Amino acid sequence: MSSQTLREARQYEEVYEKLIPAEERPKFHLSPRVGWMNDPNGFCIYGDKYHMFYQYHPYDAHWGPMHWGHAISSDLLHWEFLPAALAPDEFYDKDGAFSGSAITLEDGRHLLIYTGVMKRTVENGQVKEFQTQCIAIGDGVDYEKYDANPVINSDLIPEGSSKTDFRDPKIWKKDDGSYRCLVANRAPDGSGHLLLFKSDDCIHWDFEKIFAKNERRYGLMWECPDFFELEGKGVLLTSPQDMLPEGFEFHNGNGNICIIGDYDSATDTFTEEKVQAVDYGIDFYAMQTIKTLDGRRVMIGWMQNWDTSGAHDGKEPWFGQMSLPRELSIKDGRLCQWPIKELEDMRSGKVECKDALVAATQDLKASDSESIQGGVSFDGVKGRCVDLELEVKPANPDDMYDRFVISIAADEKYHTDIVLRPKENIAKIDRKFSGSRRAIVHQRRAHIPWNGDSIKVRIVLDRYSMEVFFEDGLYVMTASLPTDVSCDGIYFNTNKDAIVNIVKYDLQ
Ligand code: FRU
Repeated sequence: MSSQTLREARQYEEVYEKLIPAEERPKFHLSPRVGWMNDPNGFCIYGDKYHMFYQYHPYDAHWGPMHWGHAISSDLLHWEFLPAALAPDEFYDKDGAFSGSAITLEDGRHLLIYTGVMKRTVENGQVKEFQTQCIAIGDGVDYEKYDANPVINSDLIPEGSSKTDFRDPKIWKKDDGSYRCLVANRAPDGSGHLLLFKSDDCIHWDFEKIFAKNERRYGLMWECPDFFELEGKGVLLTSPQDMLPEGFEFHNGNGNICIIGDYDSATDTFTEEKVQAVDYGIDFYAMQTIKTLDGRRVMIGWMQNWDTSGAHDGKEPWFGQMSLPRELSIKDGRLCQWPIKELEDMRSGKVECKDALVAATQDLKASDSESIQGGVSFDGVKGRCVDLELEVKPANPDDMYDRFVISIAADEKYHTDIVLRPKENIAKIDRKFSGSRRAIVHQRRAHIPWNGDSIKVRIVLDRYSMEVFFEDGLYVMTASLPTDVSCDGIYFNTNKDAIVNIVKYDLQ
């Protein structure tokens, strides 16, 4: 039986979705049916479809009481909306149905596990927020919340841990048929730790152990954990709040990190070996993964960030979008990401430029905040739904350029730049001139130890975003773009002659 709150949300989204023309959304990145979207939730395969749920506030383009939106797809690129799956309509989730995950039960029913948020007045008169883990079981469209929710409450957590910051359950099934659930929590020192719970039926849970501890190394609280095995390694993804910068690896604010280590499945012991940022750009957070039927580990994140996502005026009919689905692998001990291979089926209108000269631009200044207008362009190399593969080499091997700039979403007034600085081992993205009217973060740099003189870059554009893959996916930089879609120029600038190979496709 769905509640009045859920019925109203479903009616609302059905009516207001119709007012959003398809051309005013991303073409192949999932955006909310209407209103606000944040984290991916319950990313899974159920029946013969991929399902993606998401943190959702249908009534406004800003965050509000969290619902779960719902969409399905056969290729992770073309999405069809289903009715909202969850609304904040029970005493234990009246202030929000926060992030979580999904799994198929033995009997074929679909189980969602999420965080119920409830504000309560405590003894001293203050209002405090309590978070618990709750389940809802359904058929892939309609879900019934479990009578005895919450199924994991704060009585189970270690002494002194936070009852307010206890959220984002990630569930998986082990080979022996038992279930595990990893939940983000704050230790008594205010720093994040991840708690592991176990269950035989996915409904009755016991605390097993503290799975990983932040100890104030990477931000404070860790949100939205995901854990999986990949190529014999354990991989932990999480999104820390309150990061301090470290070189160009981590930046201030909300971040995204990957810890690769050793995982002993018999004792559920994870031993950290290496840590890195997942995405070095501006907009990437709260990523979740699935294993596809053909065995690929695929990740999708929220293509926004908390420090800037409140800056828009809220008049837009939708806000927030998911990243491209990215296939994961481990290369040289690092997490490597590459656009899902299904994207290649969307390619059309191939344009190829071989060994083309980009002559040095006289007025390309050394300054970091330079404004570049125009530059070298090539016939047919333009567009806002584009898959562009680029290889850049110095024209004279003994005279490497200092800066090679690729400007996308460009016209006489606007442009967003991807800057290669090989001598410094830096790549930079800069959307200062993208049409943004807000004083938010517009630039970010990544340290990339380039391997040789030939630099390879793959850029995927989908109207309001760019995702840039360097070094075959070892480094990725993602940003959302406010630029009007009529700005579809792509220009190249360099301070020393360079030779490029370009293969460009439209994405249909
Ligand atoms: C991360 C997050 C989660 C929480 C959700 C609330 O972006 O803060 O920790 O469950 O968003 O919308």
